[in-house]
Amino acid sequence: SRSRKLAGKHVLVTAGGTMERLDPVRYLTNDSSGKMGFAIAEAALLMGAEVTVVAGRTTVEPPAGVKLVQIESAQQMLEAVTAHFETADIVVKAAAVADYRPARQQEQKLKKTGETLTLELERTTDILQLLGERKTHQLLVGFAAETQQIAHYAMDKLTRKNCDLIVANDVSAEGAGFNGDTNIVQLYGKEGLIQELPLLSKRETASRILEVAVQRLPHLPQS
Ligand code: PMT
Repeated sequence: SRSRKLAGKHVLVTAGGTMERLDPVRYLTNDSSGKMGFAIAEAALLMGAEVTVVAGRTTVEPPAGVKLVQIESAQQMLEAVTAHFETADIVVKAAAVADYRPARQQEQKLKKTGETLTLELERTTDILQLLGERKTHQLLVGFAAETQQIAHYAMDKLTRKNCDLIVANDVSAEGAGFNGDTNIVQLYGKEGLIQELPLLSKRETASRILEVAVQRLPHLPQS
């Protein structure tokens, strides 16, 4: 049986993909199913935590027992996450957040006109980076979805975004990343590579990630 190592702690998790509206019926999104984020939420619940999940577009049901905040866009995710940030002890950002959104959101459905259509996109706010700047006591866990030079980009994200842990996944590897029920991740901390996990279910991956996070919490409850 799992010990309740997170009793009395508040874990904030983001899951799924953001949806960036183009017009009333169209949007830009990505392949995130929410499975990885929901697995983290479920593992945190089993460890006794109070869990808030900020979820974008997902294709599976969230675990029962979490406080679910449903959002669409990166901007809405930013607002929901910052609203729950102060009371959080651990923040895990498993969501796939759009880096760009349509520069203009059309109020009417876009009409078919020329042979080509160019969309202008603008940068969204990097939520993880903002949290890194604002954090006080929170243990901040970011994800890095990469297809090349995993270690390099993981460490770059860790330092640039002031994270305590980065969970890197090679999203081009078989059995890893978006949509499936398994993942292959490496955990990085300020000291570099901490753990290289084999191919595991997202559920098992999640509990391994939280085990490492718990060890790094500033104030561990006696259990
Ligand atoms: O949902 P699943 O289908 O189970 O898939 C899981 C997953 C592949 C989505 C997950 O394992 C994963 O890698 N999530 C992070 C995806 C991502 O957006 O990675 P990134 O390297 O682009 O971003 C790095 C980090 O910054 C992430 O923690 C992301 O949440 C965060 N970010 C990114 C952009 C932005 N504007 N704000 C952010 O906070």
